[in-house]
Amino acid sequence: MIYLDNAATSWPKPEEVYTVMERFLREAGANPGRAGHRMAREAERMILETRTRLARFFGAPVPERVAFTLNATDSLNIALKGLLKPGDHVITSSLEHNSVARPLNRLAALGVEVTRVANDSVGLIDPEAVRKAIKRNTQLIVINHASNVLGTVQPIRELGRIAKENGLLLVVDAAQSAGHLPIDVEKDGIDILACSGHKGLLGPPGVGILVLKDEIPVSPWREGGTGSRSESPVQPEAYPYRLESGTPNTVGIAALGAGVAFIEKVGLAQIRAHEDMLVNRLLEGLRSISGVKIYGPADASLRTGIVSFNLAGWEPVDAGAVLDHVYGIAARTGLHCAPWAHEAIGTFPAGCIRFSTGYFNTVEEIDQAVAAVRELVRSAA
Ligand code: ALA
Repeated sequence: MIYLDNAATSWPKPEEVYTVMERFLREAGANPGRAGHRMAREAERMILETRTRLARFFGAPVPERVAFTLNATDSLNIALKGLLKPGDHVITSSLEHNSVARPLNRLAALGVEVTRVANDSVGLIDPEAVRKAIKRNTQLIVINHASNVLGTVQPIRELGRIAKENGLLLVVDAAQSAGHLPIDVEKDGIDILACSGHKGLLGPPGVGILVLKDEIPVSPWREGGTGSRSESPVQPEAYPYRLESGTPNTVGIAALGAGVAFIEKVGLAQIRAHEDMLVNRLLEGLRSISGVKIYGPADASLRTGIVSFNLAGWEPVDAGAVLDHVYGIAARTGLHCAPWAHEAIGTFPAGCIRFSTGYFNTVEEIDQAVAAVRELVRSAA
């Protein structure tokens, strides 16, 4: 299989991730913080180690500002529903995934005002348009760092500056950028960062991350056992336990730690350089085929490893099925859980075909994928 669906989840994982999952479950699979025995203490130690690694990776001031959640969607729901109340105004973009769009639509029905800033033809959001949308009741800006449809990378640092100058919070959906692009919550002015552990961070599915620059009082909606302050009748206010209740996914967190350690070992710059090279080759190959319409920025440095396109004579869903069954290529077709983004680029409702690369893809795989697309277009002519 030529796996070009890394934007949905990365595959394969580094060897260490598989090893740690099995070893942790066999040797230290106790419930952290719930008992004083050595297996429970080992689980607790591992969680702190992964928290510390992630805090360093994202520039968080202390490990306690990293909370583990279920996935990026969970992190975004926690942040948005825990901060916004009726009468507040929030600014977002026209390119958001349903993980931002749907919670905001629910909040809008409850009286939160939402402004969606439109993107340009390659999917960039103009920071000045965001500035102009600020009103007296604006509380926060929520935006994806990189679009899961176009791969377009937004000028996050500039948005961070605008948020700070106007006393707003900046919430960033980094589902498509974490592990691909450098992120530093302090330097980038990100107040809350939400991402998944199973995409660019190379961990398994089932763990999400929420990073807070400061002790922002996000109201928790999930309350319960935290393994600490059990005598208290109410949820602890201190982070990270404020947002973490119930038995955590220890196996997933251990393996996520191994995924991030792998990224640190290889180096983010090296990962980015490899992915850039693959995307440039893919863009070049697809551009050489007439009948291919590519979406998003022409320059690979303005995108992540995502390349979305349509083929003359093909419905995206049919092309995806042929790529899978005939050529052994895994792509994601359709709307990518981001219908607004497809409306913004004129591909709603059929969507498009998306190839998304990862560190483990090779030049040969990209060439085979381009050759397969060439044949598909020819066969429809
Ligand atoms: N959000 C993921 C994607 O874009 C699942 O495929």
